Amino acid sequence: MELSKRVQEMQFSPIRKFNPIAIEAEQKGKKVYHLNIGQPDIETPPEFMEAIRAYEPKVIAYGESGGLPELQDAIIGYYKKIGVDLERKNIIVTTGGSEALMMSFLNILNEGDQVMMAEPFYTNYNTFALEAGGSVAPITASADDGYQYAKRELLEKSLTPNTKAIACISPGNPTGNVLTLDDMKVICEFAKDHDLWVMADEVYREFVYDGRKLASFGQLSEYADRVILIDSVSKRFSACGARIGCVISKNDEFMSGIMKMAQGRLCSSTIDQIGAAALYSVPDSYYKAVNEEYCARRDTIHAELMKIPGVVCQKPGGAFYMTVKLPVEDAEDFLMFLLTEFDDNGETVMYAPASGFYATKGIGKDEIRIAYILKKEDLKRAAELLGLGLKAYKAKGNK
Ligand SMILES: Cc1ncc(COP(=O)(O)O)c(C=O)c1O
Repeated sequence: MELSKRVQEMQFSPIRKFNPIAIEAEQKGKKVYHLNIGQPDIETPPEFMEAIRAYEPKVIAYGESGGLPELQDAIIGYYKKIGVDLERKNIIVTTGGSEALMMSFLNILNEGDQVMMAEPFYTNYNTFALEAGGSVAPITASADDGYQYAKRELLEKSLTPNTKAIACISPGNPTGNVLTLDDMKVICEFAKDHDLWVMADEVYREFVYDGRKLASFGQLSEYADRVILIDSVSKRFSACGARIGCVISKNDEFMSGIMKMAQGRLCSSTIDQIGAAALYSVPDSYYKAVNEEYCARRDTIHAELMKIPGVVCQKPGGAFYMTVKLPVEDAEDFLMFLLTEFDDNGETVMYAPASGFYATKGIGKDEIRIAYILKKEDLKRAAELLGLGLKAYKAKGNK
């Protein structure tokens, strides 16, 4: 018996694969500051649990495959406020943005097809593309200009005869790069000229800083036939465990393909959909307060990291991640050291090694992704531990 070639090619998630080692360290009494995963500590708005407590069905029944109408309507209301007009038929509710991505790849890729993406990118895209028989073709952007990639020349260079789509995460994970509406137009025009789908992952949409404006590919109605929006309540409402997302498109043929798969898996959790629908009724002040909190966290961790000799990182414009270059040859080896050998007063720190966020083999080995999802004082301590860990690592003769 043998596993599929597809699965054999897949990697374990670099965000999660060191968790068992961290758990072991924690069981031995070490405190680990987790900067490895995008799981915010901001409280989920109470509206979520209030709605679930008020929901008292006699039977927890299947819902519609496309999603509960009350959630679809809540999503329509949210999008209207950001200038995107939708109807229920444009939205299919999914089990997290992850399922929206997986279904979208399955919907548009054939064996050997490629999806263009600026690297480093959210590592699970490699997994989703492989599941659909495809792969990611990297657009190599540069840290020096904040990983900007909406440049026609750069895009043309990364095109291959097998390219079917360009996927954009904005605000970006793991770089924090933010596309402006003009950038989005450049990408859509390029996609139109080469007849590509545009997959727009905007799960961090509200998290843009320093006066940057919220922008969505959905606002560019002239490209609506090729744009696929991926969305989720996970980050916007700090509700990662609710597992509710959606795929949005005005292309009826695309949606009909997604619906076949949605019907195949019956429906997403109805209880979580009830809670998610209520989340969309939070006042605008909620978004503002959360945005300010993340912006302050970004400033805190960036200032602390800049104090560590040899560390290089740009201040990102959005989301809640930073790609950071460390003065080590192998960020995975250093992470193992932090988890198994190092502590300062019983405490250590954990991050996600960044090499798995690249499609190009062999790059990013000295880079890490940090998620600034902890309170400011915890971020300060986490950065301090990183600095102390580096000193101890080097003192042992490691490069
Ligand atoms: C860019 C991006 N897209 C999609 C997801 C999937 O999130 P979820 O399945 O929780 O909605 C994540 C999760 O971290 C992400 O960072």
